[in-house]
Amino acid sequence: MQIRPLTPDDVAAADHVAWSALQTQVPAEFLDAMGEELRAERGRYRIAHLQRTDPDGAWVADDDGDLVGVALALVREGVWGLSLFGVRPDQQSRGVGRELLDATLRYADGCRGAIILSTTDPRAMRRYALAGFQVLPCVTFAGIVDRSAIPEDLRTRPGDAAEDRDLCDAVSRHVRGAAHGPDLEAMERVGCSLLVHDDGGWAAVRDGSLALLAARDDAIAADLLWSALAASEPGQSVHVDFVRAGHDWAVQICLAARLAIGPEGPVFIRGDVGPFAPYLPSGAYL
Ligand SMILES: CC(C)(COP(=O)(O)OP(=O)(O)OC[C@H]1O[C@@H](n2cnc3c(N)ncnc32)[C@H](O)[C@@H]1OP(=O)(O)O)[C@@H](O)C(=O)NCCC(=O)NCCS
Repeated sequence: MQIRPLTPDDVAAADHVAWSALQTQVPAEFLDAMGEELRAERGRYRIAHLQRTDPDGAWVADDDGDLVGVALALVREGVWGLSLFGVRPDQQSRGVGRELLDATLRYADGCRGAIILSTTDPRAMRRYALAGFQVLPCVTFAGIVDRSAIPEDLRTRPGDAAEDRDLCDAVSRHVRGAAHGPDLEAMERVGCSLLVHDDGGWAAVRDGSLALLAARDDAIAADLLWSALAASEPGQSVHVDFVRAGHDWAVQICLAARLAIGPEGPVFIRGDVGPFAPYLPSGAYL
């Protein structure tokens, strides 16, 4: 088994391996809604994007030409984030994941802070905690939005990755000490719509569900979250993930919208990641 850098030629196989590891984490209603072809296209775009922007954070486990694991991390303005981490199910619990994570964590050397959005896999959580990360427990919300609860006076507007980049980058620096930079456009390319609040906040929404939210204060964040929920189709199942302590504004909104609260993997942080609020990070781009 060789742990080596991921190359552009590995993108399709890496997506296949990552999805084989992670698909059990996705509830059936969201799996079916997307369709495999679109999912794979988006998965490959994300891996190719991060291989271009962060080749030193992109690693695979290669078993004699057969890819069995992948770990991808990004660094933005001194903050490292784990974007993707999976080992093919038939190769799990044999030490491959640990080696992959160690390789991509070397890319965090010299970084001010680091962020991981975890699944509930005990193997993943064990290695994150042992790598010096602090555990931030989370809850998740899912269901169909009760549209009668949506306020009428929302101020959020549709955004654009190019035109609103400065505003979005400034808000990301405010919440986590680092802009999202090139990841904004990458999010748009894989189906995210941007929502912007001119007082200082932005959100990304994909397939009716929130993918990321960052704001200067809780009132702006609340306006953005309601607007994200309003962007879902009537009757569509949506989710709001990685809601942590200190984000009661989000808890109250999700409950008012009649989404169901449930358990979630924790967020792990290390070092200086800014105030980390109000901020609902994205699994792929933190
Ligand atoms: C999480 C994952 C990438 C880990 O890779 P892996 O090759 O299976 O893990 P390893 O064999 O390296 O084990 C990692 C640690 O978990 C421990 N471990 C193994 N099996 C375990 C189990 N059933 N319960 C608890 N710990 C376990 C190992 O001992 C090791 O710890 P150590 O090195 O301190 O002894 C892999 O299991 C996976 O793809 N899971 C599904 C996808 C997922 O949840 N990814 C995480 C995204 S945030």
